[in-house]
Amino acid sequence: MKIIVTGGAGFIGGNYIHIMQKKHPEDEIICLDALTYAGNIETLAQVMQKPNFKFVKGDIADRAAVFKLFAKEKPDIVINFAAESHVDRSLLNPELFLQTNIIGTSVLLDACREYGIKRYHQVSTDEVYGDLPLDRPDLFFTEETPLHTSSPYSASKASADLLVLAYYRTFGVPVTISRCSNNYGPYHFPEKLIPLMIVNALKNKPLPIYGKGENIRDWLYVEDHCTAIDLIVRSGKVGEVYNIGGHNEKTNLQVVQAILKELGKGEESICYVADRLGHDRRYAIDPTKIKHELGWEPITGFDEGIKKTIIWYITHKLWWQRIVNGEYQTYYKNMYYGR
Ligand code: NAD
Ligand code: DAU
Repeated sequence: MKIIVTGGAGFIGGNYIHIMQKKHPEDEIICLDALTYAGNIETLAQVMQKPNFKFVKGDIADRAAVFKLFAKEKPDIVINFAAESHVDRSLLNPELFLQTNIIGTSVLLDACREYGIKRYHQVSTDEVYGDLPLDRPDLFFTEETPLHTSSPYSASKASADLLVLAYYRTFGVPVTISRCSNNYGPYHFPEKLIPLMIVNALKNKPLPIYGKGENIRDWLYVEDHCTAIDLIVRSGKVGEVYNIGGHNEKTNLQVVQAILKELGKGEESICYVADRLGHDRRYAIDPTKIKHELGWEPITGFDEGIKKTIIWYITHKLWWQRIVNGEYQTYYKNMYYGR
């Protein structure tokens, strides 16, 4: 099968490509990625020379370029990982999120309509459901939970989901959507909580926790997300939404404490900074549907996953040092200094 993977130079798309190259070596993967600040061609270094892999630099919102690629490659499957993905950045520049996450998705869907495909898969997020109160641990997001977004990022992702479902109902494009909880693992851009805290701890820098560190996220090791997407693409029902998550809820403070403990460091580097605007309190996925319909369950628990992730950052310093020594410094100063 020929698969276009958009956003494959990013965190989850990059992991997906590495895992799928091993799992389905018979497939041909074409990665379409604009190489924004979050895209890193070094993430794909190991697959770049493989005969069944091709990298194409391009913007998913560039209609002419996307249509040209589809006309040339005639893909069987399209998996859309490409997005502006950081909530904090969506507070600084919402429009960019609308452009990539909504317009980009609509261009891909139009290309799928025009050229015909077996499956379009939209990689979405649990953030489209909004948040849950901290004092109701009995509540979880199901696929029926109404969309109720908080940030420009989540609003743009929810809009894209609605478009995907509209193209299924109105035009019969064979789509699926997955809505996953927070991922962590190798190749995670160091602006997100877990890689930022690991990198800062390794550099003996302060660890900035928003608010009181009470907010809860449901952490999933990235490999488990990738195997779930593969299952949905191959065996999931067209027109359906699947939640992906693993009952690995932690407060942000617990996550940071776990990282410090694993690194053998004390907690004196933790500093509490001004809260994120509109900060979602708790995310928690009910994964019953994907478990019952497709037999998916996460394999890696948080304790094992965080150990593996920390080891990866210790053994791949060059990968993240190139990032944190570059233009990322300007972002970091704007986001954290004087906060
Ligand atoms: P990321 O920011 O690490 O990577 C995004 C990739 O998309 C980068 O390689 C970037 O260059 C590329 N890209 C951005 N704009 C583009 C455009 N206009 N055209 C082509 N390529 C473009 O993101 P991620 O964390 O890997 O997330 C991937 C997807 O998974 C996103 O859709 C995100 O919403 C979703 N998601 C992420 C998480 C998480 O915890 N990271 C959880 C659930 C869902
Ligand atoms: O739930 C899925 C979502 O998870 C994805 O859709 C997003 O693309 C992804 O970025 C992630 O969103 P979050 O906002 O939950 O992730 P982030 O790593 O930015 O923050 C996790 C929590 O940690 C959140 O409560 C904010 C907090 N935080 C984050 C940073 C960067 C801090 O306390 N300090 C920080 O410096």
